[in-house]
Amino acid sequence: MFFLNMNYLFEAIDFVENPLYERIIFDISTKQYSIVEDFFNQEDVEMLRHSLLEKYEEDAFKKAAIGNRVHETIVKSIRGDVILWIDEHKNNTAEALFFNKINHLIGYLNKTCFMGILHKEFHYALYPKGTFYKRHIDTFENDDRRKLSFVCYLNNEDWKPENGGELVLYLDYNGIETEKVIYPFPGKVVIFESQIIEHEVKPVNTQRLSITGWLKTR
Ligand code: OGA
Ligand code: MN
Repeated sequence: MFFLNMNYLFEAIDFVENPLYERIIFDISTKQYSIVEDFFNQEDVEMLRHSLLEKYEEDAFKKAAIGNRVHETIVKSIRGDVILWIDEHKNNTAEALFFNKINHLIGYLNKTCFMGILHKEFHYALYPKGTFYKRHIDTFENDDRRKLSFVCYLNNEDWKPENGGELVLYLDYNGIETEKVIYPFPGKVVIFESQIIEHEVKPVNTQRLSITGWLKTR
């Protein structure tokens, strides 16, 4: 009974128009990506960074592969980051906070845009000095369920552009290609269309921290 009542409460809250989410929806529908400078505040970022580093020091991370979980290969000349998938159901405080925000956004997208996001997957990523991720697209030949890519940066407050690791989106509007260069400042979130936007991570000069994930259909 308690759960039923809570659901009604959440539904009522979700009817209120959310200006930030509305901007994200507008951006994605007009230019296929959206950038939010302070999706996570400094306190949230610090908790998430601490959680990432704690797991990294426990040696829980593994070399990131290309291809999906069935057809994986590790090719350092394409990507050099190490990752750890996050289990929503075995989370710590920082991860619970992260998924709360994500689920709230997904609820809004599904309700207002009928996006049909049913699944999600997220991993921590750490790019050691000297690594990069060459130009690619986030969908696989044998799996097109990834709809939106989501990247959130967990770098230190004093992150500088000279540290490298820029995310570059290769945009194609009516056959005209433009590049959008995005610096991985802490708290920033980038959301883009997984099936359309080619992108790359430029070589990093300083260890670069993030959470990357996908909102998926079916
Ligand atoms: C990825 C990716 C971008 C970034 O992990 O597929 O493109 O800025 N990440 O970390
Ligand atoms: Mn990618």
